[in-house]
Amino acid sequence: MNDNISILISEEEISKRLDEMAQQINKDYNGKHIHIVGILKGSVYFVCELTKRLTVPVTIDFMVVSSYGSGTSSSGKVVIKKDTDYSIEGKDVLVVEDIIDSGLTMHKLIPMLSEREPQSIKLASFLSKPSRREVPVHIDYLGYEIEDKFAVGFGLDFDQKYRNLPFVGVYEGGVDVE
Ligand code: IMP
Ligand code: MG
Repeated sequence: MNDNISILISEEEISKRLDEMAQQINKDYNGKHIHIVGILKGSVYFVCELTKRLTVPVTIDFMVVSSYGSGTSSSGKVVIKKDTDYSIEGKDVLVVEDIIDSGLTMHKLIPMLSEREPQSIKLASFLSKPSRREVPVHIDYLGYEIEDKFAVGFGLDFDQKYRNLPFVGVYEGGVDVE
C-alpha cells in the first residue's frame, strides 16, 4: 500500500509542532476572539487539529478559492468559488491554509479580504515551499518549510487522494496502489 509515498513528517512530529503553534497563537491573541477562515479543502485537518489546541474563543468559517497560474508573470487570478458564510468586518481573522507554493493564491486573497475591513488579518500555513515562490507572501504562523517536493496527507491531496493520511508524505509518482 502507498509504495509511492514516503513519510516526510510523522504524525507525532505534527502533533508537537501544532502544540507549539497553538501556544504562540494563544499568547498573541490573548483577550481576543479569533475568527478562523479555512481554505477548503486542504486546510481541514490543520484547522481541526489547530483549533482543538486553542484556548482563546474561536469561530470557524471556510471558503473555496481557485487560482489560475500566471505562467511567468505575477498576474495570477484568484476566483472565490465559495465565499465565507459570515462577514469578517471588525473581526480578528486568521486565514488558515495547507501550503504556500507559488504564493499566488494568498498574494491575491489576503488583500481581497483586507478590503472587507477586518480588525486584523493574519495567515497560518501548515507548509511552505519557499523555493517555489513567484510572489511574496507573509506567513505569520508556519508549520514547516519543505523542499520542492509534492506533499500529500494531513489534508493535502494528489488528484483528491491521500488527504486522510495522518502524516505528511512525499508523493514519489509511479502507479497508485488502490
Ligand atoms: P499557490 O501558493 O497559489 O501556488 O497555491 C497553493 C495551493 O496549491 C495549495 O493550497 C494547494 O492546494 C496546492 N499545492 C501546492 N503545492 C502542493 C503540494 O505539494 N501538495 C498538494 N497541494 C499543493
Ligand atoms: Mg489549497
